[in-house]
Amino acid sequence: MARILTGIQSTGVPHLGNIMGAIMPAIQMAQDPKNESYLFIADMHSLTQIKNGEELRNNTYATAATWLAFGLDVDKTVFYRQSDVPQVTELAWYLSCYFPYQRLTLAHSFKDKADRLEDVNAGLFSYPMLMAADILLYDVNIVPVGKDQLQHIEMTRDVASRFHAQLGDTFVMPEGKVHEGTMYIPGTDGQKMSKSKGNLINIFQPDKKLRKQIMGIKTDSTAMEDPKDPDTDTIYALYKILASQDQVAEMRSNYLNGNYGYGHAKQALYDVVLAKFGDAREKFEYYMAHVEEIDHALEIGASKAKKVANSVLQRVRSKVGY
Ligand code: TRP
Repeated sequence: MARILTGIQSTGVPHLGNIMGAIMPAIQMAQDPKNESYLFIADMHSLTQIKNGEELRNNTYATAATWLAFGLDVDKTVFYRQSDVPQVTELAWYLSCYFPYQRLTLAHSFKDKADRLEDVNAGLFSYPMLMAADILLYDVNIVPVGKDQLQHIEMTRDVASRFHAQLGDTFVMPEGKVHEGTMYIPGTDGQKMSKSKGNLINIFQPDKKLRKQIMGIKTDSTAMEDPKDPDTDTIYALYKILASQDQVAEMRSNYLNGNYGYGHAKQALYDVVLAKFGDAREKFEYYMAHVEEIDHALEIGASKAKKVANSVLQRVRSKVGY
């Protein structure tokens, strides 16, 4: 049995790209009885960028509501909020004292953020140590991450080795696993959907706003009557991901035959989004109106997580000299 852990950023309401690309596959993996899975909302990492408490809290709720709405089973997964297990900051401190400052200055993700952001705080710099603590605190075997996070996993292994070299074996050595074949979800401008590009589709908005976003998908200017190339069009690309095979085949022949406008295709996409996500949309709304249920779900996870965290931390404390 492998213990798998991953942290989820909570920088806003998850969009269609997050849902199809990350959340749905992660839930599927968590349901595999061969794995023991830990999933947490990295709200302490979010503090490096979000300085408004209300916003930070709401982002956590929206993120948790999304996972719950898509069927995350809190009995099978240890699902928790990072800040509910503050033991992680204690471990992050110990790790920081065993890691060379110089190595942190080489982190790509720090350099990238330092170039882009106005607020270049010390938390942003020590981010990899908190992430290493997230992992080492739970005796984790496998950490599924995006490619951009691999260096952070390398640093986690590096700090664990340095610690072991001085104090002997203490941590389980984790392995990073880049999710292969992650689906490419185009945004409304045809580029990869992402919050920073402002091209996202938020399925949790009221119908009218959702429809407006879908109607805003960029297309070329082929006339209504003329045949269209489905393989270069964003509406079709999204439809292909969401609709049934028969529906996709039908849209494909409509494109090729002509007398079928992009407006028709957008309406078909909107209908399929409503049909496919109707249930999740209702649940999301329910949870956002009952955040006490979200708190309750996260507390169950936090109490399971704390048991492991306290025992690992005990091991570490005695090694470092407390
Ligand atoms: N840094 C990760 C990201 O940006 C989120 C994260 C925080 C994480 N702690 C983690 C991922 C621990 C895996 C394991 O996506």
